[in-house]
Amino acid sequence: MRDVIVAANWKMHTTPADAGDLAVTIAARTRVAGVTRVICPPFVCLAGVRDALATADPEVAVGAQNVHHELAGAHTGEIAAPMLVGLATWVIVGHSERRRDAGETDAIIGRKLGRVVDAGLRPILCVGEQLAEREDGRAVAVVEDQLRGALADHEPERLAAAGMVIAYEPVWAIGTGRNATGADAAAMAEAIRAALAGLGWSDGGDGVPVLYGGSVTSVNIGEFLSEASIDGALVGGASLKPDEMAGIVARAGLTAAARGLAA
Ligand code: 13P
Repeated sequence: MRDVIVAANWKMHTTPADAGDLAVTIAARTRVAGVTRVICPPFVCLAGVRDALATADPEVAVGAQNVHHELAGAHTGEIAAPMLVGLATWVIVGHSERRRDAGETDAIIGRKLGRVVDAGLRPILCVGEQLAEREDGRAVAVVEDQLRGALADHEPERLAAAGMVIAYEPVWAIGTGRNATGADAAAMAEAIRAALAGLGWSDGGDGVPVLYGGSVTSVNIGEFLSEASIDGALVGGASLKPDEMAGIVARAGLTAAARGLAA
């Protein structure tokens, strides 16, 4: 059975002075059997969050929000995958805000994915369509293209061994308060696994956790987690609120228990 995962993407929020305390508060409110928890703070807060969680709750994993596609070199201000080792165990790649703000292409995202895996870290690959693309009936085609572009040069076995997770985050649902329906997210999760099968994944992508992201809250999380093809959430705004995280992870615990993961 696939893991049930709740990952917090703090985006450009928190400081080294307060991130550790927030992580500890969230950890204490989300101790639920069977749910894999990940907190992804800004780079400068990774060490503080890691240290705070090491004593408070080592079961909460720490993730980075991005990584550079080169291994080292003259790239002022950038962070390479080997630099994250010891600070984080997960890395988000291809978030739509980076596709938008930093012009990241599927090819670049594919290279980042390779760096993450080479460094022994666990990638969360983000995909998702724009509103106009959904309205044109092209949502699945767009996500398939993103997957093909990022995954084409990678051996499925290697990505599977690294525990790659895919987050389906429709761009129009991010930070808008307008979430996808559970049924639409589930249909996309199935399309994602079909695309993996087409890319040569021998298990048809069956072992790859697919998360939903986009205006997830404690109120709507149940709509997603009642879908068998969805394995958790990548949470933005609500992940900075301990009450919200408590509700989201509590609901994820029900799914974990139903899947026999909570023993
Ligand atoms: P929101 O939950 O704020 O919509 O953000 C979702 C997201 O982008 C997580 O990566």
